[in-house]
Amino acid sequence: MHTILSKQELTERTWHMRVEAPLVARACRAGQFLMLRIHENGERIPLTIADWDREAGTVDIYFQEIGATTELLATLAEGESILDVVGPLGNPTHVEKLDGTFVMVGGGFGIAAGYPVARAFKEAGNRVVAVLGAKTRKLLICEEMLKAVCDEVYVATNDGSYGKQGLVSDVLQGLLDEGEDIRLVFPVGPPIMMKVISQMTLPLKIRTVVSLNSVMVDGTGMCGSCRVTVAGKTRFVCSEGIDFDGHEVDWDEMMSRQKMYSRQEAEALAYYHEHGGCLGGKR
Ligand SMILES: Cc1cc2nc3c(=O)[nH]c(=O)nc-3n(C[C@H](O)[C@H](O)[C@H](O)COP(=O)(O)OP(=O)(O)OC[C@H]3O[C@@H](n4cnc5c(N)ncnc54)[C@H](O)[C@@H]3O)c2cc1C
Ligand code: FES
Repeated sequence: MHTILSKQELTERTWHMRVEAPLVARACRAGQFLMLRIHENGERIPLTIADWDREAGTVDIYFQEIGATTELLATLAEGESILDVVGPLGNPTHVEKLDGTFVMVGGGFGIAAGYPVARAFKEAGNRVVAVLGAKTRKLLICEEMLKAVCDEVYVATNDGSYGKQGLVSDVLQGLLDEGEDIRLVFPVGPPIMMKVISQMTLPLKIRTVVSLNSVMVDGTGMCGSCRVTVAGKTRFVCSEGIDFDGHEVDWDEMMSRQKMYSRQEAEALAYYHEHGGCLGGKR
């Protein structure tokens, strides 16, 4: 059992939790994820390890309520427990000293997922810029955390309520126009955002590493549900990634596979709502 030590609502339907998980905290590195299962009949869901404290034995997760399991997770209070927390899973992000700037582009929960990677590139002695995207100011998360580990943080909001009005790709274009010597772009967030950024950097020959969030079931390379096509070859995101060359990912296939369980997910959410939060487990 893994106790929830703190819980905070960051924006509407987006939460930060600090969870007791000493084995995960001891071994994890930037770019890795965990799989959690709330109760014995629950499904396992992957979440990025956004931060950790090895001495305290804790990990931090940031999640959006978008379906039955994340809604259930959001109902848990401080002091309550999560049955299983398995990890760290996936390969750590390759961190190196670059000859130019590292740019982390984050959208949605991807902003939190990109935080440990931005921090690791800063610790490796790089100039680090973060470009954060949100629909509107009140949906923006983790800006202060990123300011603490980046040389510059830029924000784009769709409605112009904060930062530049527009998309993260507009901010990235602005940086390029101003002559920022970008050597590596790391987009993390909605697949469509990662696709657009990868398409933008391809003709410019700027290395682009994406952190893929394909649908996962076991998270250990055995079920095949997370498969994607990269450079014409089938790859399993959970065991061979989660980072891949964004210029080589078959984005259209990946995005269509994201929707493959839409009917079952809608049914699970309806069941969850109809049964007062009961998913066949304790709640
Ligand atoms: C490596 C990785 C890291 C992730 N990190 C985070 C994170 O830090 N914060 C966060 O909010 N979300 C993260 N996600 C996405 C998160 O796993 C899904 O939002 C969650 O599984 C949805 O479950 P649900 O039952 O609430 O919703 P559902 O109704 O089951 O799903 C809603 C949508 O979420 C996606 N999804 C569903 N199941 C999975 C799954 N098992 N794996 C991946 N995507 C799925 C699908 O696109 C689906 O349409 C990550 C996904 C991966 C693969
Ligand atoms: S989640 Fe099963 S193989 Fe990747």
